[in-house]
Amino acid sequence: MYRVLFVCLGNICRSPLADGILAHKLQLAGLADQVEVDSCGTGDYHVGSPPHVESIRVAEAHGVPLAHLRARQVAVADFDAFDLIVAMDRKNHRDLLTLEATGQLHGKVSLFMSYVPGATSQDVPDPYFGGPEGFDAVYEMVDAGCETMLAEIRQSLVAVGSGG
Ligand code: 4NP
Repeated sequence: MYRVLFVCLGNICRSPLADGILAHKLQLAGLADQVEVDSCGTGDYHVGSPPHVESIRVAEAHGVPLAHLRARQVAVADFDAFDLIVAMDRKNHRDLLTLEATGQLHGKVSLFMSYVPGATSQDVPDPYFGGPEGFDAVYEMVDAGCETMLAEIRQSLVAVGSGG
């Protein structure tokens, strides 16, 4: 099993969208039994809460189930449990590296925007303090990045001979 963890600040806007979208793509590709997807936040503000209503709205408009997710805070144990840890912005990325001060994490943590073709920023913008249109824009970015991730995961599964 290959394990992917998406990390943002609150785990209610951006990382749940990435979690739900990649899981949905893996399901459609018949790879859901080979890849586990999860998400969490660097902060603890919303632990136990479902995703933001606007994240649920835009996901469900695209046929992606999201309402079942619940926010949790990142734990040091995640650094061992997951193969790939994807930070939604550079602050999340810095906070993760600070949390795991031994340096072992460096090879495992990437920035989500590195998967988005033609990205003009390194950060997925935080839509929390804006209106619904911010969530629509984030959906498009996250969908594009997850498409790249799906292709890379499919390649690596083929490379190790386990299907795809
Ligand atoms: P997220 O957005 O990191 O994409 O889940 C936020 C959610 C909550 C807060 C900030 C950002 N907050 O300050 O409570």
